[in-house]
Amino acid sequence: RVYPESTDASAAVAREIATLIRERAAESRMAVLGLVAGSSPVNVYAELIRLHREENLSLANVITFNLDEYYPMNPDCLQSHARFMHEHLFDHVDIRPENIHLPDGTQPVETIADGCAAYDQELIDAGGIDIQLLGIGRTGHIGFNEPGSGTDSRTRMITLDGMTRIDSASHFFGVENVPRRAITMGVSTILQARKIFLLAFGEGKSSIIARTIEGELAPSVPATSLQEHTDAELILDRAAAAQL
Ligand code: GLP
Repeated sequence: RVYPESTDASAAVAREIATLIRERAAESRMAVLGLVAGSSPVNVYAELIRLHREENLSLANVITFNLDEYYPMNPDCLQSHARFMHEHLFDHVDIRPENIHLPDGTQPVETIADGCAAYDQELIDAGGIDIQLLGIGRTGHIGFNEPGSGTDSRTRMITLDGMTRIDSASHFFGVENVPRRAITMGVSTILQARKIFLLAFGEGKSSIIARTIEGELAPSVPATSLQEHTDAELILDRAAAAQL
């Protein structure tokens, strides 16, 4: 879907999320959302906050699982995805703290494999993700699934691509401060979501978006795995769609 402006695109996605939440609330059921940090979803979260404040949207029946986190990373750190989520969404709505799940960037290295397996299990126990939001990196990563990540990959620790670290450098006041590793839901974990919205805005995303949609499905561009999903939509502005 190509929108004239990213704000229109974000509002449309927020409305679809709100509809799911309200439908589930009417049935006294939970809605499970897969969320992502980064610049792309900011306006989706802003619109959800507006709907909460102005149109009585309650997030009391929402369970969230975040996609990824740098490693090591303290949740209070300026650059942590955990802090981002609190500042841009959780602190402004009525979601219950016990329903928020974030990959733990403080766990000791020896327990990460178990921690990741437990994260996947919590997700299954919650009933699986109803709507997964994604951004995309210039390497074609979804979450932090860098090139080479196969469609069978589960939640795990990965090594960040050099290009991704350069793209993150401004947040860390220099590339040398960007962590070399991260924890991410796997491609397979992502593909199990019932509905996926990948958000990409701006000219900088146009080349990787063209490869994602028109290129061959290959682990060298992990986002191409979305071609296999039955309900994945790419939500673009005109600039991001320019090379299609
Ligand atoms: C980051 C995150 C991704 C995010 C992507 C795009 O590195 N790991 O989950 O979607 O890059 O970020 P942005 O939306 O800021 O362009």
